Amino acid sequence: MRIMALTQKIEWLANQSRLFYFLVALYYKAIIRREVELAAIKPSDKILCIGGGPCPYTAIMLHQLTGAAVTVVDNNAACVQQSNALIQRLGLGKTVRIVYGEGEAVDCEGFTVIHLALQVSPKRKVLENLLARAGRGVKILVRRPKTMVRGLYCDQESCPLLCHDYVKHNFFTNVGNTALYVKEGLYGEAQA
Ligand SMILES: C[S@@+](CC[C@H](N)C(=O)[O-])C[C@H]1O[C@@H](n2cnc3c(N)ncnc32)[C@H](O)[C@@H]1O
Repeated sequence: MRIMALTQKIEWLANQSRLFYFLVALYYKAIIRREVELAAIKPSDKILCIGGGPCPYTAIMLHQLTGAAVTVVDNNAACVQQSNALIQRLGLGKTVRIVYGEGEAVDCEGFTVIHLALQVSPKRKVLENLLARAGRGVKILVRRPKTMVRGLYCDQESCPLLCHDYVKHNFFTNVGNTALYVKEGLYGEAQA
């Protein structure tokens, strides 16, 4: 997928340059703040991020905003190596863990919040794996593309769970909204 390669290149630059890191962080910050609020993430939560890339902003900011420990799974070995080096440089090695793995096979037992990056593919299979293994009440956040860029990303098709709630993002991002699913939780009426 070309959009994935482009995102990885931008984030590779962000991994290497402080200035780039700061500039790209501006893109992510508001999105992640809204997601923290949407899922009411607490310091005691254990977060799993599927897809971190060379510069795992979501994992870093989820930790910085909430104090929760975060594990990132990515199926690109070079990204895992690069992001691990960044996490060590930032001194976050004890609270942000980066591991190699496939979202469609990862064991998510013990995690209370799971986050899917926009570029994750195949989304449906990843979601099926998570739903089969996640514990009761686990919150799953899924970033979904804006309608006009939907063709650039893997389509989620449908999710076996009802959308509990969602939050919309601003004009300057490809992320249209982030949906919150709760496994065997109390479902609201909201449908994104
Ligand atoms: C470029 S990153 C973007 C994430 C961004 N850095 C963030 O913090 O939100 C997306 C990553 O998702 C990974 N990815 C895509 N599909 C995946 C899957 N099924 N399992 C694990 N990782 C996946 C890709 O390897 C890529 O590095």
